[in-house]
Amino acid sequence: MATLDDGGRLRELLLTWLLAWLHVVSAIGWLGGGILFAFVVGPALAKLSPASSGEFLVKVVPGVARFFQVFAGLTILFGALLLYNMGGFGLLTLSSFYGVDLTVGVSLAIIAFLVSEFLAVPLQLKAVRMIREMLASGGHEPPADFPRAVLHARITATLAVVLLLATSVTMVGAGFY
Ligand code: HEM
Repeated sequence: MATLDDGGRLRELLLTWLLAWLHVVSAIGWLGGGILFAFVVGPALAKLSPASSGEFLVKVVPGVARFFQVFAGLTILFGALLLYNMGGFGLLTLSSFYGVDLTVGVSLAIIAFLVSEFLAVPLQLKAVRMIREMLASGGHEPPADFPRAVLHARITATLAVVLLLATSVTMVGAGFY
């Protein structure tokens, strides 16, 4: 245990604590926002009139997509810094329960990040673009492939959330070894 007169070790512990806190708070934002949108806001959107859901898409979804990009990026950034600070990539080993837990968690997190950044967010923004183009051309009916774009956006966002839930299970597990 670090004592108050062991300055170097204390500084190291404080940095680990700070990085862990920043990592967990970013993960809470990403996962919490994802759960709320995938399981509450998304299904509720389907019950709104086309005009209301169109307005919601154009005015709210771009900000939500940016929120996910920022919190996903921060979670990965602080996770990587925390890993580096705690001993580096050598911790990602398959020769201990801790290493397996962490390796599976980091792998799932990277897949969740790729699904979120390169599938879910672009599909959400595609649906927004469709409504914007409809409004710009003075139309009132979204294009025929609009429902499919929304469905794909919802499926990929839900997939990212499921991957994040699995990540959080292994990350929390790693904290017990
Ligand atoms: C590349 C991505 C990530 C890296 C490198 C990473 C790395 C780490 C590391 C090294 C720890 C400390 C484990 C220990 O206690 O020894 C940790 C803890 C944690 N991580 Fe991650 N992580 C990543 C992504 C995520 C994601 C996406 C989530 C959530 C959805 C998450 C949630 C957590 C939580 C809740 C803890 C605290 C566990 C505890 O101490 O009880 N991490 N992470």
